[in-house]
Amino acid sequence: MSLVSDTVDDVATASNFREVQVCHYHLDFNVSFEKKEMKGAALLDFKTNKTASVVTLDVHETLKVHKVTKDGMELKFEVSPFTGYGSTLKVQLMESVSKDEEFRLQIEYTATGGPGVCWLEPAQTAGKVKPYVYTQGQAVMNRSFLPCQDTPAIKSTYSANIKVPKGFTAVMSASESSSYGEVANMSGDKDCYFFKLPIPIPSYLIALAVGDIQSADIGPRSRVWTEPCRLEDAKAEFGGVVEDFIATGEKLFGPYVWGRYDILVMPPSFPFGGMENPCLTFVTPCLLVGDKSMTDVVIHEISHSWFGNLVTNANWSEFWLNEGFTMFAQRCITEELFGTAYACLETATGLELLRQHIQNTGEDHPLNKLRVVIEPGVDPDDTYNETPYEKGFSFVSYLQELAGGKEVFGKFLKSYVDKFKYKSLVAEDTLRYYLEYFPGVRQQTLAGGEVVDREKHDFHDWLYKPGTPPYCPDLSAGRELTEPAESLAQFWIEKGGSEPPNVDISNWKTFQVLHFLDKGYPQISNTHNAEIRLRWSKLTIKNDYQEDFPNVEEFLKSQGKQKYTLPIYRALIKGSKEAKKFANEVFSKTCDQLHVNVQVYVQEIIRAG
Ligand code: BES
Ligand code: ZN
Repeated sequence: MSLVSDTVDDVATASNFREVQVCHYHLDFNVSFEKKEMKGAALLDFKTNKTASVVTLDVHETLKVHKVTKDGMELKFEVSPFTGYGSTLKVQLMESVSKDEEFRLQIEYTATGGPGVCWLEPAQTAGKVKPYVYTQGQAVMNRSFLPCQDTPAIKSTYSANIKVPKGFTAVMSASESSSYGEVANMSGDKDCYFFKLPIPIPSYLIALAVGDIQSADIGPRSRVWTEPCRLEDAKAEFGGVVEDFIATGEKLFGPYVWGRYDILVMPPSFPFGGMENPCLTFVTPCLLVGDKSMTDVVIHEISHSWFGNLVTNANWSEFWLNEGFTMFAQRCITEELFGTAYACLETATGLELLRQHIQNTGEDHPLNKLRVVIEPGVDPDDTYNETPYEKGFSFVSYLQELAGGKEVFGKFLKSYVDKFKYKSLVAEDTLRYYLEYFPGVRQQTLAGGEVVDREKHDFHDWLYKPGTPPYCPDLSAGRELTEPAESLAQFWIEKGGSEPPNVDISNWKTFQVLHFLDKGYPQISNTHNAEIRLRWSKLTIKNDYQEDFPNVEEFLKSQGKQKYTLPIYRALIKGSKEAKKFANEVFSKTCDQLHVNVQVYVQEIIRAG
């Protein structure tokens, strides 16, 4: 069966992936913290789809290519500019390869400090003693880690031999791993790790971390990895719950094919809540709250095991296929385990974020389209916002509603995953299968009685019209949890904080507090829950409540998650003269601790302000 995704373009890659395609990557390199480099070779096994005489790959100006060989013969190559986020490596094959031919290139290279490879000084780690390095591929940053076809349209298996200084541990997004002291090196100052993932994945999911990392069991197929000083907290936070999350995912969406599910708790500057690297989710240390109140992020990353990692968006305009379906899956698992009311509460908070985003940017903003237009040269990461998540979720909820509800739609999702696992799709492929599965939905009767094709009208509008989603799922089952939060917010709005409310919120769920903060103006400032601190900081900044600025500063220093850092700087820059000055001061103090991309985004916010 042919897919629309088989022929669509990906403007974000320089590779000739329609002609030749990588089926397997093998990495073999040394990690040096002194030089801040990874030096070695990548072996790329190719399959040929069309006769080709050149191979073009994605690299980055920070990645130095030394030599390219095929069957032991050195090949001519040239590196040229591609975009701000990558370069083109063009390799001349001596003889052209013909269709269905297989061949291997060996590329000797050194990866240094590109955007995908984050080198941390000891001071930037939790333990403060040893340095640390980790990679972050999504969306288009792995080209600074390895020469690759950096497009989610292509899936490959991978393996790796990684040598690290003694006393360091390497972990990767792989199902098999083993370690041994290096035999050939007589001085014995290196440890060697072997990894393998025999399941095809897009290049952005290849991930590595090296540091002072230890692990503890948290379930029958799960371990948590982190720096030793965090291990107890990490074990307490995730112990005994992840297996329920995975098992529920399997019940709803089919087998978990990845073998292990481990979690790596990252150093504080990790710029995301979580990253769904296969077999090994990377998470922010902000999740270590002590009461399991932020495990929704883990449920989200586990949900990517089916949506995103098995069925993948074929280019970054279709990012909603990854994130919208994952939000939907996440809320299905949440509903199974914690009940409908709680799932509705969590959904209400998410949709509120989307509402605020659309209000801030405007209904017609082009980034508020489900299928986002990415012009050549624009970094897909610069299009990141709530739309693919929550408008994506709303669309999937709408598809469920049209199909006739949870039960039938659940069966469809399972069948969809099974049919398209290990493939990359665009929306047309998803929607065509949906209409094939639910033929009754194919025709749509317009208000005037005219019968039209649903794909051409309804679905077209969902994909191409910016702004608020035309459908919102029924969240009334969440009233029992959202109502107390809303009425307390109303009380604050009416009384302006002049009278203390007679409500005990000590047993509230985190999401109830978030819902309340989103709706009203309370005085909760001493929490260590990052989600609450974000809302609180935004409120105090908005009201130019400068007494709270030290608290804001402390929060910005304690972590570097993009979704927390940027909104706070935006609020400060919009604020008073003092707030702007404060933003500049804090940024100059914390800049070095932030991920390079986050540094650039904050600089842009400050410059524009
Ligand atoms: N895959 C994303 C993180 C990401 C997106 C990294 C785009 C790089 C580019 C991950 O699954 C995610 O969505 N994380 C959320 C978690 C939340 C929605 C529960 C986050 O980091 O906030
Ligand atoms: Zn996600």
